[in-house]
Amino acid sequence: MVLIHVVGSYNLDLTVKVDRFPEDGETVFSNEVRSGHGGKGSNQAVSASRLSGKVKLYAAVGNDDVGREAISFWESERVDSKNVKVKNGRTGSAIILVDKKGNNRIIVNRGSNFLLDPEDVDLSASKKDDVLLTQMEVKESVVRKSLTEFNGIRILNPAPSIISDLRLLENVDILTPNEIEFKELSSSDDIQDGIDLILRKVKIAVIITLGERGVIMATKHKRVMIDSVKVNPVDTTGAGDVFNAALAFAIERGTTLEDAVGFANAVAGLSVTTEGALGPKLDEVKLFLDKLNIKIP
Ligand code: RIB
Repeated sequence: MVLIHVVGSYNLDLTVKVDRFPEDGETVFSNEVRSGHGGKGSNQAVSASRLSGKVKLYAAVGNDDVGREAISFWESERVDSKNVKVKNGRTGSAIILVDKKGNNRIIVNRGSNFLLDPEDVDLSASKKDDVLLTQMEVKESVVRKSLTEFNGIRILNPAPSIISDLRLLENVDILTPNEIEFKELSSSDDIQDGIDLILRKVKIAVIITLGERGVIMATKHKRVMIDSVKVNPVDTTGAGDVFNAALAFAIERGTTLEDAVGFANAVAGLSVTTEGALGPKLDEVKLFLDKLNIKIP
């Protein structure tokens, strides 16, 4: 059986809805506050599982109620959390501001995510058709070990793009930055130059997500722009996570990279029409994709 292995974070998200983001020194009122499951690792794991992927999560929660609830949540979402460690400390958390247009600004308190150590993750038994999905909300040493040891296809979602040693990218097959992360990693304002630079490091492709403007997929042989589907966004939090989850799912099913990007882009589009950072369930995806004439991998 082909597996999606996700190495990453869990956060308790506190989402605060505002009409507009406050300026420096300014106070604004919020119309709604809610808490929910988040963290890029967990969001990607749960979103891939909702698409019917078989997912194993490697993460660390604290020995607190939040951590215990996270473990029950993964069970209810059919994510295998046997490799999740419980650490002495508090589970990670995030404060998310969402404005009227659905845009977000996020502050993460790392908590137990940064207590996950390289020796807590063992991917040596992974198979060549398995897919690894990892991000930068855990220690760089954990990401490095996971990428180096993994035997299948390795996707790094460089979010946030704080990477102290860019040689990390040499063990990445597919890099999936958003526009800000891409600029930071390529240190270039020219998109084509930046792509050239990144393609000299990663093995297969760089896929740059540009929100409503679409996605650029660049390999050593091909560069294409894939348009986003037109939707009315309510909350863009986690759109990147859903994109990565759907991409990993489609690749694990053997889809071509270009079709996998088209599928992932459509699923991420659907996800921003509802609140929260998690992806849609398979039934909703089927209904939505039917209208767009896109097949489920
Ligand atoms: O990508 C969205 C996620 O970023 C949120 O769930 C938050 O926890 C931060 O990790």
